[in-house]
Amino acid sequence: MEQLTRKDLIEKWRNFYLSKGHKEIPSASVIPENDPSVLFNTAGMQPLVPYLLGKSHPLGKRLFNVQKCIRTNDIDEVGDYCHHTFFEMLGNWSLGDYFKDEAVAWSYEMLTKVLNIPKDRLAFTVFKGNEQVKADEYTAKLWIKQGVDKDRIAYLPAEDNWWPSMDLTGPCGSDTEMFYWTDNNNKAPKKFNPEDKRWMEIWNNVFMEFNHTTDGKFEPLKQKNIDTGMGLERTIAVLNSYDDNYLTDIWRPIIKLIENLTGKSYNDFKKEMRIIADHIRTATFILGDEHSTLPSNTGAGYILRRLIRRAIRTSKTINLPKGSLSKIALEYVSEYKSDYPELERNKDIIVKELNNEEEKFSKTLEDGTKEFEKVINSIIRKREFMQKQNPNAIVENIISGKQAFRLYDTFGFPIEMTIEMAKERGFNVDKNGFDNSYKEHQELARTTSAGMFKGGLADTSEQTTRLHTAVHLMLGALRKVLGENVHQKGSNITSERARFDFSFDRKLTDEEIKQVEDIVNEAIKKGIDVQCSEMTLEEAKNSGALGEFENKYGEKVTVYNIPGYSKEICGGPHAKNTAELKNFKIIKQEASSAGVRRIKAIINF
Ligand code: ALA
Repeated sequence: MEQLTRKDLIEKWRNFYLSKGHKEIPSASVIPENDPSVLFNTAGMQPLVPYLLGKSHPLGKRLFNVQKCIRTNDIDEVGDYCHHTFFEMLGNWSLGDYFKDEAVAWSYEMLTKVLNIPKDRLAFTVFKGNEQVKADEYTAKLWIKQGVDKDRIAYLPAEDNWWPSMDLTGPCGSDTEMFYWTDNNNKAPKKFNPEDKRWMEIWNNVFMEFNHTTDGKFEPLKQKNIDTGMGLERTIAVLNSYDDNYLTDIWRPIIKLIENLTGKSYNDFKKEMRIIADHIRTATFILGDEHSTLPSNTGAGYILRRLIRRAIRTSKTINLPKGSLSKIALEYVSEYKSDYPELERNKDIIVKELNNEEEKFSKTLEDGTKEFEKVINSIIRKREFMQKQNPNAIVENIISGKQAFRLYDTFGFPIEMTIEMAKERGFNVDKNGFDNSYKEHQELARTTSAGMFKGGLADTSEQTTRLHTAVHLMLGALRKVLGENVHQKGSNITSERARFDFSFDRKLTDEEIKQVEDIVNEAIKKGIDVQCSEMTLEEAKNSGALGEFENKYGEKVTVYNIPGYSKEICGGPHAKNTAELKNFKIIKQEASSAGVRRIKAIINF
């Protein structure tokens, strides 16, 4: 039998919907724009929501496309023959144009005439009805009209035949799903049993006619829409009679590459190779997206990191050499770039980030794994010890939240990975405990940074105290040399140096730098007492004291005065006398941001 490739299926889809008067829309970005409710685009209809609600689409009322989608809710299932975190969805839409009659007729035509699926291998589900919406007898009749036997139509509840879900708000409706009989050795039973896993859903037609409002009502939409989605990967697989999606032309070159890189055979390491192939494909599409996201510890970046790290961990079990992930990614780039040119454009980012992440995580993975084993062993030992004391003592196989957090924080183990590793050993993880440790840590991190800030100001070591005074003298001098437009934009002081940002839009000349240094050194030489007094903010302003962050001050402020050189509102602390600074030098100047210069200076050298 001739193979049906990914490109063939897309071409068939394209030609069919063009022949039915549809216009092609490009795939939207996989990282959604203007939609903070989801991390990834999960369906072709997602970017079309405004049009489903009634806005007019520039390309008209009949649309179709191939949409890149990411769904990570089944990530744990990846490794079997059919679950993926990334997939392409073939979709077509009627935006208030045709409805059930045409949608059903065309779906049937597509399945039986274009894809040449024998009628005998098809079955259908329709909505069974509930208190809100009655059963969809109408659609059942439409299928029967096409020649479908009524035994091949099952009525299912909202959990199966309502999209996206009765619990979610927004445009929605009942749907009808199309199933393919996958068992090549046994004929499909006359009666359709949706519980029989040999029936695989390949296509969903949603009749979007309601808006589920936040107060729980199902209001009829201004227009009745059709929203369909066919899973490209699984459809190609079943149409080629494969019982494994990874045997299709999508993955053949990838699996071959992994086989070559490891010297191992797919047949012996299916699960591992599938996980790597799947996760790296998704990572490639996230990194290579128009809105490319990098690995991080939050949101989409965290999912990306999790996928890459799971792939790395898996890669160790089949001895995939370091640096292979980016090679696999490049294979995907060349496979998909004609449809998704953004992958080629972002090729360097993809390679760099995968290599980076591999480099970073490989270092800690081994130590973390040892630590993980220690944790497991300590629980086992504890049980043995306790049971020696009391044979009925129970020590459960639970890794504590703190232990899991340590693996996360010190070794970079995503919690999901720890849970997965624990499961492999028959252990559970206290996820709530982990969440608490995580929160505590975040609070700690916040306090630490507050503390750092406090520490900065509270650091009363002599050198930093003097540098504070030097910064005052420097601002005064800069204003003398460059003009009163110079204002402080920020400062950062360590015991080594003062870093100072100020408003000014060009590089200082060597002469100007020298003048500033001279003024400060002159003040130092004079040995001036630094005066400190408290006054109201109003009084301070009237006295001509500079205050750069006025809205942050309270009623009363401290003003430090170095007569003739500087007068500033400031929390301190400061040197008692300028002579303590000994000498002053500007060691670096650079642009900080537009209109802001940065200077680094030292004293007492
Ligand atoms: N939006 C529908 C789905 O994702 C077609 O199944």
